[in-house]
Amino acid sequence: MEAARPQREPALDADYDVEAVRAQFPALQQEVYDEQPLVYLDNAATTQKPQAVVDRLERYYTRENANVHRGVHVLSQQASSAYEAVRERVADFIGAPEPDRGPAHAQIVYTRGTTEAINLVAATWGRSELEAGDEVLLSRMEHHSNIVPWQRICEETGAELKVIPVTDRGELDVEALEALLSERTELVAVTHVSNTLGTINPVERITEKAHAAGAKVLVDGAQSVPHMEIDVAELGVDFFCFSGHKMYGPTGIGALYGRRKLLDAMPPYQGGGDMIDEVSFGGTTYAEVPHKFEAGTPSIADVIALGAAAAWLDDMGRERVHEHERALLRYATERAREIDDIRLIGTAREKASVLSFLLGDVHPYDAGTVLDRLGIAVRTGHHCTQPLMERLEIPGTVRASLACYNTREDIDRLAEGLEKVRTMFG
Ligand SMILES: Cc1ncc(COP(=O)(O)O)c(C=O)c1O
Repeated sequence: MEAARPQREPALDADYDVEAVRAQFPALQQEVYDEQPLVYLDNAATTQKPQAVVDRLERYYTRENANVHRGVHVLSQQASSAYEAVRERVADFIGAPEPDRGPAHAQIVYTRGTTEAINLVAATWGRSELEAGDEVLLSRMEHHSNIVPWQRICEETGAELKVIPVTDRGELDVEALEALLSERTELVAVTHVSNTLGTINPVERITEKAHAAGAKVLVDGAQSVPHMEIDVAELGVDFFCFSGHKMYGPTGIGALYGRRKLLDAMPPYQGGGDMIDEVSFGGTTYAEVPHKFEAGTPSIADVIALGAAAAWLDDMGRERVHEHERALLRYATERAREIDDIRLIGTAREKASVLSFLLGDVHPYDAGTVLDRLGIAVRTGHHCTQPLMERLEIPGTVRASLACYNTREDIDRLAEGLEKVRTMFG
């Protein structure tokens, strides 16, 4: 294995100083167990945080803390401006288009993450638009967070869920999707990138077909935002959801992009302070979007640190980062193929940052436990995609997922670890 490698290593960008990138992540500097340097390959679950994001959180809590939209005092005004400025950055970060009325960033609603963004759309748009006879199309590779909210709202409204099949190599069957589309289809909800397989779905094509059938499109961008340039205007989607913690930002914060016209027509999600225009016992009127959807004191510090994460990624150069990750995925795939008895799960032609596999008869949990003892963090199990596991007739996978700070050495350590697993269980 060692001897054959040098000629076949796909080149990583020589100008991409991965050690300088790693130096910005305190969590990566640690050793685990018996002085094993940490190899962190669980980035699809959550990424580590650069010092810039940690510092931004600290600065907010040590010097800037105040509630937003409420105070006349200087700290509150500053916090409100910082909080709203991030909305503009996020709109820019994902290419939100100018609507007919109001600024592009009014279409950005802060949520706790992708899960809450999808639940918001299901509970507001879904509850008011869906009725018996309507259909919602979901793919077989969806994360549970893009299945369960739709199941629940379909049960409530009488609409029907239809499942877009996935091919053996883990690609969405676009022809089957086209065949499923009809005048009954109200929504197509698909993931941009599969968290289990890494498959990149052809969102532009899906949106074109869905719109031609009169359906709206919701895209789960949890796994695409960290790994590719996002332009929701170009993708043509109606709703787009993502999480900050998967793109080097804090946990508990994410965003929903929705077309202004749709957001305007949707009822509020939760009731409380900040989302109202006027309240009386005779009736309440609501604030304009996006505040209509943001009841109560929001995660102010996390919003501001999400802005820092987006700024950090922009400073890094998103295309450079993504090129590094693509080259590393090619390298990881080549190295994995050299291992006897390995079965790659998900071999789509277009893939991002995920290597899922099974090793002989070894249970993923056992493989993950051995790797953990060697200091290598991977994810094992069904990855919140049980219907996909059922389709592939497997209980789960071992998943190594990559980020901007991973190196060829990380992949080599993984490959060596897997050889150990094979020896132990072989
Ligand atoms: C594809 C996909 N969708 C949705 C989610 C849910 O994201 P969150 O838990 O941040 O809400 C995840 C998280 O793993 C995911 O990978």
